Amino acid sequence: MTAALLLLVAASAAAHDVHSLANFDVVRPSHLSLDLTLDFETRRIQATNELTLAYASDATPAHLDLDTRGLRIRRVTDPASGRELAFGLDAPVEWLGQRLRIDLGGARLEKVRIEYETGPDASALQWLEPRQTSGSRPFLLTQSQAIHARSWIPCADSPGVRVTYDAIVRVPPGLSVVMSAEHGDHDPDKGIFRFRMRETIPPYLLALAAGELGFRPLGARTGVYAEPAVLERAASEFRDVERMVRIAERLYGPYRWGRWDSIVLPASFPYGGMENPRITFATPTILAGDRSLVSVMAHELAHSWSGNLVTNATWSDFWLNEGFTTYLENRIVEVLYGADVAAMEVLLGQQALRRKVEELRASRPSDTALVPELAGRDPGEAATEIAYEKGASLLRVLERRFGRRRFDAFLLSYFQQNAFTSMTTTRFLEILKRELIRDDDRAWTEARVEEWVFGTGLPGNLVTPRSRAYDAARAAASSFVKTGALDGVGKGWVTAQWRLFLGELPKPLAPERMAALDRRFDLTHSGNAEVLAAWLEHAVAAGYPPAYPALEAFLTRVGRVKFLEPLYRAMEKNETTRGLAREIYAKARPGYHPIAVTAIDAVLGSPEASH
Ligand code: BES
Ligand code: ZN
Repeated sequence: MTAALLLLVAASAAAHDVHSLANFDVVRPSHLSLDLTLDFETRRIQATNELTLAYASDATPAHLDLDTRGLRIRRVTDPASGRELAFGLDAPVEWLGQRLRIDLGGARLEKVRIEYETGPDASALQWLEPRQTSGSRPFLLTQSQAIHARSWIPCADSPGVRVTYDAIVRVPPGLSVVMSAEHGDHDPDKGIFRFRMRETIPPYLLALAAGELGFRPLGARTGVYAEPAVLERAASEFRDVERMVRIAERLYGPYRWGRWDSIVLPASFPYGGMENPRITFATPTILAGDRSLVSVMAHELAHSWSGNLVTNATWSDFWLNEGFTTYLENRIVEVLYGADVAAMEVLLGQQALRRKVEELRASRPSDTALVPELAGRDPGEAATEIAYEKGASLLRVLERRFGRRRFDAFLLSYFQQNAFTSMTTTRFLEILKRELIRDDDRAWTEARVEEWVFGTGLPGNLVTPRSRAYDAARAAASSFVKTGALDGVGKGWVTAQWRLFLGELPKPLAPERMAALDRRFDLTHSGNAEVLAAWLEHAVAAGYPPAYPALEAFLTRVGRVKFLEPLYRAMEKNETTRGLAREIYAKARPGYHPIAVTAIDAVLGSPEASH
C-alpha cells in the first residue's frame, strides 16, 4: 500500500489510538461484568471479567485482542458452553503493557470470560498499610487514567471505546467499597459490595476505593465519603458542591450521572482530583479549612460534561477534556465565588502556562501545540498546562470573539449532541466552524483557531482578565524583591493572592528575603498545601534550611505528583539539596502510588537501578 492510501485508510476508520493494543475497530467489549476479591495480604486482586462483545461487521474475526499490564491470566472460557479458549500474552511493549490475544475459534461469541489475578506492581493500584491512613485499617485505591485500567482489568483500554459495567467486590470484614458506579445491594457483614454503571464510559473511568469509610450527605444528590477522622473537615470544606451542580446544569444542560458524590482519600492519592463518574476522587490537600481550594471540585464536576460525556478520542486530544474542563470550572467558580476570584484563578493558570511554554520552548517546542505527538511516549506526558491552560485560553478567545451568549449556546448544544461519544480534535474543529463560526471564514481566521490548536507557543490574541487583587499582589512582589519592603504584602489577602505573589517572586530569592518573609508570615508552617508547596520550592531554590524539616514532612505525607515533581526537581537542581532529595525519597518512596514512583524515578533515577 502506498503511504497516501495508508493515510486514507487510517482517517476513515475509528480514531486510531497509539496507546492501545486492542483490536476494537473489529471487535470490542461493550459490557464488563467483574467479580473482584481484594486480597490485602498478597496485594493482589483475584478476579474474573466476563466481557460482552460487539462486532464491527458481519465478518467473524479470528481473535479478540485486549490490553493488559502485568496480569496473570489463568483461564479464558466461552461462558455459554464452558469451553476453554486458547490465548497468548505478547511480550511487553514500553508504556503499553502486553496484548492478550484470545482465539475465538471461528465462532461469533457473545461473551468471553477471563479468570486472572493482578500483578504485584499493578500501576493503577495502591495498597496502603493502616499507618498510611488516618485510621487503623488497610486501604486500596485505584487510578486508571490515562492507561492504567489495563493493570487491573483486561479491556480495550482506549478512551475511544465505551463500556457499561457491573461488579461484585469481596473485601475483609470492616471495610467498605465505593466504585465509579451506582450502588447495588451490599452485604457489609459478609464483606460483599455490588455496583452497576448503566451509562457507557471509557475504561479510564473505572475506579474503586476500599477502606474504613464514613459518609455524610451534602445535598439531595451529593455527599462525601472519607475515613472517619477526616469526614467532618471534608463535609465542611465541600458544603457548596450541591450548588455547583445546579450552576453547571444551568450552563451546560442536565447532569446525566444521577448522583455526584466524592471521596477524600488518604494523602498518597497521586492527583488533586479525578473525575470518576458518580464519585469524584480527591486528595485531602484540598482541605484548606477555608474552601479556598474547592475549585478542584468544580473542575472534577465539570468533567461530567467535558470528558465523561464527550470524551477525548485519543490522548493526543486530551485538551478536549482538560482545556474545556478548566474553562467550565472557571465559569462555575465565577457564579459561586464572584468574578474577581475567577479572574485570579485564570491569571494563576496563565502564569503557570507562560512558565511551561518557556520551559518547553527550550526542551521540546512541539509539545506546546494543543495536539502533541505521543506515539512511543507515556500519555501522561500530555498532562501539562498546555492542555489545561492553553486549551482553556482558546475557549476564552472564542467566548470574547463571539460573545458569551452565543458561545454558551454552542457549548450546551455540543454537549447534548455528542453525549456519550468520543471526540477527535479534527471533528471538534468541524463542529466549531459550522455551529459557532457559521462558516464565516474571516471570523475563523481572525480568531486564529488553527494557530491555537496546531501552532507552538502562545498566539498574540490571548485574553487576559483584569484583577485589582492580582495587580496588588504583583506590585507587592516587585517592591519586596527590590527593597525588601513588606508593607504591601499579605494585608487582607486571599489564598489566590499568596499563590500569585509567590509565583511572581524570582528563584532563587536571597536568603535574607526568605527569612524576612518567613519571620513575618510563618509560611514554612502554612496549612494551605498550595501555598506551602510554592513556598517550599522557593526554600529549595534559595537554599533555606529552616524549611527542610517541613519539606521532608510534606514529601513523606503527600503523594500528589503535582507537588512532588517540582519539589524533587528543584532539589535535584540545587547541588546543596541533591543528597537530601535522595535521602527523603528513599524514605518516602514505599508510601507513594506507583504513578508517583514512576514520575519521581524519572527525576532522580530509580534507587533499584542505581548500582
Ligand atoms: N483527569 C485529571 C487528572 C489526570 C490527568 C489523571 C491525566 C491522569 C492523567 C483531573 O481532572 C485533574 O485535572 N486534576 C487536577 C486538578 C485540576 C483542578 C487541575 C489535579 O490533579 O491537580
Ligand atoms: Zn481535569
